[in-house]
Amino acid sequence: MKLTIDSFEEYKKIYDYSVSNPEAFWAEIAENFQWRKKWDTVVKWNFKEPNIRWFDGATLNITENCLDRHLDTIGDRPAIIWEPNDPEESHRVLTYKQLHEKVCQFANVLKNNGAKKGDRICIYMPMVPELAIAVLACARIGAIHSVVFGGFSAQSIADRIQDAGCTLVITADGGFRGTKEIPLKSVIDDALVQCHTVQKVIVLTRSRTPVSMIKGRDVWWEDELKKVETMGNPPCPAEEMAAEDELFILYTSGSTGKPKGVVHTCAGYMVYTGYTFANVFNYQPGEIYFCTADIGWITGHSYIVYGPLSQGATSLMFEGIPTWPDAGRFWDIVQKYQVNILYTAPTAIRSLMSFGLEPLEGKDLSSLKKLGSVGEPINEEAWHWYDEHIGKRKCPIVDTWWQTENGGIMISPIANVTPTKPGYATLPLPGVQPVIVDENGNEIAGNGVSGNLCIKFPWPGMLRTTYGDHERCRTTYFATYPDMYFTGDGCLRDEDGYYRITGRVDDVLNVSGHRIGTAEVENAINMHSSVVESAVVGYPHDIKGQGVYAFVVCPELHDDADLTRKDIVMTVSRIIGPIAKPDKIQFVSGLPKTRSGKIMRRILRKIAEGDTSNLGDTTTLLDPAVVEEIKAGAL
Ligand code: WT7
Repeated sequence: MKLTIDSFEEYKKIYDYSVSNPEAFWAEIAENFQWRKKWDTVVKWNFKEPNIRWFDGATLNITENCLDRHLDTIGDRPAIIWEPNDPEESHRVLTYKQLHEKVCQFANVLKNNGAKKGDRICIYMPMVPELAIAVLACARIGAIHSVVFGGFSAQSIADRIQDAGCTLVITADGGFRGTKEIPLKSVIDDALVQCHTVQKVIVLTRSRTPVSMIKGRDVWWEDELKKVETMGNPPCPAEEMAAEDELFILYTSGSTGKPKGVVHTCAGYMVYTGYTFANVFNYQPGEIYFCTADIGWITGHSYIVYGPLSQGATSLMFEGIPTWPDAGRFWDIVQKYQVNILYTAPTAIRSLMSFGLEPLEGKDLSSLKKLGSVGEPINEEAWHWYDEHIGKRKCPIVDTWWQTENGGIMISPIANVTPTKPGYATLPLPGVQPVIVDENGNEIAGNGVSGNLCIKFPWPGMLRTTYGDHERCRTTYFATYPDMYFTGDGCLRDEDGYYRITGRVDDVLNVSGHRIGTAEVENAINMHSSVVESAVVGYPHDIKGQGVYAFVVCPELHDDADLTRKDIVMTVSRIIGPIAKPDKIQFVSGLPKTRSGKIMRRILRKIAEGDTSNLGDTTTLLDPAVVEEIKAGAL
């Protein structure tokens, strides 16, 4: 079966087939990929443990699908086009042949530095082609990569390295983002003080920031490459991986204080990202595709690297930010490379909207054919702006709903196939079986209903476990409702059967498309020496989607409130990273708690939203007076 779909009728037919006959459906999809050995069974599963196995018995290497199999056909086609942060610096193009060669070379570097199948390797790098090369080189030798986004602090990196027991780190001296220089190696050095499993650090030269290279531990990327060249660039055959061997770990926040390592495995993830990329964007050979995400997040893994490359696409990778040197940067890039498909986040669209139409003047966007949105609900105003001013009303917008745990897009329009509706992720992709449940886990059938979003049948791209703690995977995703995967999202299904995702129903915030656990931020705030206790909730933010609002109990606070606020922000920045900084900090004398000591977040959320008209029942509170005080002091 081909991966793309050409009409809405065809979608409905294929969807029905995928639900009535999932094994046959996924086997036919999987035929589009290259296997060393085909599978014995398509899927074996139970959601109780959970135990999920796709394409069991098969062997493969995902990099053979992303690289080797394209060499004879489209070897000279650009695989990665790289646009640097500074528009004055030259861009780079890597054809499939060149990318293949660089991945093999660097895979040999990894081997020379002791890396082998099953090892965990932490990657903390700027958005340069070498980041994609590092990711693919790990996959080539069967090492499990754990990419950590460049905006996380030393402490966050250390937690992740320790949790996964990484033995090797790949980083760069520094990276550029707008006018900022990020001292990546120095952050790694701070992290490694606590990490005793790490034996080698490979450092790419990027910013020429001075770094301290520790003898025996730290080596330069370029020096290591030279050694491989001196050996005459030996080939690097891809490691033969079992379908369910682990491909990577990606840490993401949940409702507890500690991020969890979402584990994806080789075959299912490859099939799912490749399929959904080709299908949702209706990718046509030769099209230039630009996803503005960072490879540090799942969107970058699935839709800058693995999905597009497995389909022989040209993936444009951008190092910088949308607003530097000015708010026309994306449009300059679209014009410069004649981009056909643009996949970005609502927060970026809202931020660019706030600059008005001037940055668009004189920009030729006529190459654009399809637009995508990802990461958070897109409000109607942003949707219409995207449609009108970027797509000029001739490009379909695919509002793609999915999660780190899903591996790839789950509910989304298919470009040029599914009639769209602003604010709606529309319909499930073939193979995806969503259900809406009430609090008790009863399925709510029919249209015009709302509730919590679950998925009742496995899909190849789903997480298999949370690294080192399978029980946590079970309780977080499979225990809330029996025999279903629980997404943590609320949604509604309208009269047409279209899905609208309304946002998280747990204590997870979505700030500028970044997932942040309120408990994590509270833990960080509570580390500040004058803080006794805190509660963090989200509030609607015009650009970020959600802002971080912290209610903080600081009894010794006298007249230095502003300085303490800054100290708290600094503490969060140190413990988690700048992305989790509270936008608002309100000092309070106490938090609203029930007699059993539970914080009533519902009340705090209402106050943070600025809606104090109906706070609901407050009589069960230990001290109802505290609510009046908090209301009066709301920011
Ligand atoms: C959460 C997952 C999807 C990859 C990037 C984020 C929210 C994501 C949408 C959308 C409404 C969305 C959900 C989800 N979300 N896409 N199109 N419409 N909400 O991955 O960090 O794992 O976050 O992002 O709340 O649960 P993530």
